[in-house]
Amino acid sequence: MSIIAVLNTKGGVGKTTIALNLAVGRALQGCNVLAVDGDRQGSLLTALTNRSDREPIVAVAHYVDGQALRQQVQRAVALYDDIVIDAGGRDNTALRAALLLADKVIIPFLPRSFDVWALDDMNALLSEARAIKEVEAWALLTMADARGNDNAAASEAVPDGVQRMPVTVGRRKAFADAAGAGLSVLELPGNRDAKAAAELQALLAAVFN
Ligand SMILES: Nc1ncnc2c1ncn2[C@@H]1O[C@H](COP(=O)(O)OP(=O)(O)OP(=O)(O)O)[C@@H](O)[C@H]1O
Ligand SMILES: [Mg+2]
Repeated sequence: MSIIAVLNTKGGVGKTTIALNLAVGRALQGCNVLAVDGDRQGSLLTALTNRSDREPIVAVAHYVDGQALRQQVQRAVALYDDIVIDAGGRDNTALRAALLLADKVIIPFLPRSFDVWALDDMNALLSEARAIKEVEAWALLTMADARGNDNAAASEAVPDGVQRMPVTVGRRKAFADAAGAGLSVLELPGNRDAKAAAELQALLAAVFN
């Protein structure tokens, strides 16, 4: 059983996309998964609602309030194999609750200066959480460039206290297209983007090992 939280106070870094792919990808491995949407915007809820009753079923719940999120996730632990939490792109009670619940915090970030600097903000929140309990945190490079040096430069700048995820996720239309329908990139017709699928498989292996 593991609780995975996909968090970053920076918006638009691919948190919901990663959370959806982790939740559905894990369900495809036969696990009973609960996805928890902690963002007022409810994008993960909408995406998984669009998924409807397609197999495998991924249950989804939406808690915007940190206290409700904490209490409900604690109750759900006994009912699910894994729980994947997505929070909004700002510091709020849901994000802080998720930080303390998670066995692993995944912090997606883009290979761009503003996004790399934002990791320091997450690192500060991690330090506060670590005054209460040990928190394992992994920075995941997302929407990575197909070429150039920016991916490597961004990875170098990950602050101490956050480990570097040994896999990256590229900027690929397949992720955006699949997510809208509540699908992982493993479920696109005809294995449409094999590179995206391979990245998700590698990410699943790294996160759930
Ligand atoms: N790997 C990817 N390749 C291409 N596009 C992506 C990828 N990941 C996410 N996107 C697109 O980038 C945008 C932001 O992604 P997403 O909504 O997952 O980010 P977020 O961090 O959850 O944002 P927010 O902070 O608003 O909740 C969306 O349009 C999404 O489709
Ligand atoms: Mg989101």
